[in-house]
Amino acid sequence: MPAQELNWFTLMQTVMEMKTGPFMAQMLERKERLGSKSSMGQMDCSLLYALVRTFRPRIAVETGANVGMASSFILKGMHDAGVTDGKLYGVEYDTTMQIGSMIPDELRGPFVPSPGNVRGFMREQLGPGAIDFFLHDSMHRYKHQYWEFKHFWKRLRPGGLLVSHDVNMNASFVDFISKTYTHDWGGVSVEGKTQHTHWARWGNLGFMVKA
Ligand SMILES: C[S@@+](CC[C@H](N)C(=O)[O-])C[C@H]1O[C@@H](n2cnc3c(N)ncnc32)[C@H](O)[C@@H]1O
Repeated sequence: MPAQELNWFTLMQTVMEMKTGPFMAQMLERKERLGSKSSMGQMDCSLLYALVRTFRPRIAVETGANVGMASSFILKGMHDAGVTDGKLYGVEYDTTMQIGSMIPDELRGPFVPSPGNVRGFMREQLGPGAIDFFLHDSMHRYKHQYWEFKHFWKRLRPGGLLVSHDVNMNASFVDFISKTYTHDWGGVSVEGKTQHTHWARWGNLGFMVKA
């Protein structure tokens, strides 16, 4: 979808449909049985789904995939948007768990478990060179979050999305966004020079669309 056409009302409607629909009920039951204490909550998963459904990314990376609550909603968004050749790389450094184990079988096909530290993932140039969607959900320390934003932003294609969970924990997300602006004398952002087209924070999730 061309980023300029983002319709906020439609996005909100998709969030509400997910929140009250059968897939959410199924995932809440799975979370109870198979999830971890770190699994993403209902509101943030609904928005994550709506963003994927709207922007239809093919190649996605999630850091901090854990047992796969957020991954399930990304995969469901790809599926419902008709993305048939998608891939979701789930980076996770805790090898005591089975990465993505709570993802429903019918959605699991495009999931690529990627064990290891995200820093090694970048250093060794693992995973795709160009991506359409990035979700940060690993360690929520300012320096680490900012580092992920900076590196994965470079891999994002124009029109791609950078999404961060837990943007309430420090100012790394807003600090990163502020670096992507160019303003005119009146404070209006300059199209063609500002590196994003949209950004927002809803609940604990922040997102920005690359120009
Ligand atoms: C909040 S949990 C993620 C929850 C998951 N996204 C979900 O919704 O089910 C954070 C995860 O990040 C992992 N993690 C933390 N730092 C990491 C790093 N540097 N590289 C890879 N994984 C990391 C942790 O082991 C933990 O499983």
